[in-house]
Amino acid sequence: MEQTQTPQTFEASDPMPDEYRELLLRVLKVAADTETSLLFPESDWLKGVMDLAPTPEDRLKMSRFYAEELTHGYYFYTLLRNLDVTPTAADYATVRQLYFAQVPLDTWTDVALLNCLTDRVGLFQYQNMEGCSYAPLARIVAKIARDEVGHIAMGYHNLTTICGHADGKARAQALLFKWYPVALDMFGRSDSRREPLYKKWRLKRLGNEELRRAYINEVRPLLEGLGLEVPDERSNRRFL
Ligand SMILES: [Fe+2]
Ligand SMILES: [Fe+2]
Repeated sequence: MEQTQTPQTFEASDPMPDEYRELLLRVLKVAADTETSLLFPESDWLKGVMDLAPTPEDRLKMSRFYAEELTHGYYFYTLLRNLDVTPTAADYATVRQLYFAQVPLDTWTDVALLNCLTDRVGLFQYQNMEGCSYAPLARIVAKIARDEVGHIAMGYHNLTTICGHADGKARAQALLFKWYPVALDMFGRSDSRREPLYKKWRLKRLGNEELRRAYINEVRPLLEGLGLEVPDERSNRRFL
């Protein structure tokens, strides 16, 4: 029989090269830190959003958003379990110390910016894994991306409403200086040493900086269209 090449895709039960499994677990861990951590009360950094919703309609929309984020967490929880890794609350004991989870969600304007900016980072990152070599991941990212599109639309709608009044716009502008660098940092370092390996194993298509550029090109005109000043893309950044 002809020597088989490296398979194009892997299922959970397939034998995997060590390098591949290591990179895959890394990809899942990053997603799990944001999404799966929500499944454990101690590390759920999102649970306050419901009480920031100003109207009954907003509260209902937030409950749907929150349920979808928990569902994303459960997808990643299941993917990890199927690789014989079962996340526990202890795995997320320090998630609150992660950068994005430290950004206080104090006001409805924060929630609007969170949805408009950081859910969009999620969308870019999940789209970057569409059709990836790990079949169970490829099967869920399209569904998650669809949900993220909804979260982003909701965030943009809320931000538009907030910016419709001078005081709201001033609040949004002040908080944009907090959220914009966070969103840009979420793409990771431009010189990530794992990047060529993710591409080699077809876990990700584009690199961090390519993705960040595409994001800036999309987001800048949206924010400017709301009359907001887009912060300098290098100011207050932690990961360049
Ligand atoms: Fe999500
Ligand atoms: Fe989301």
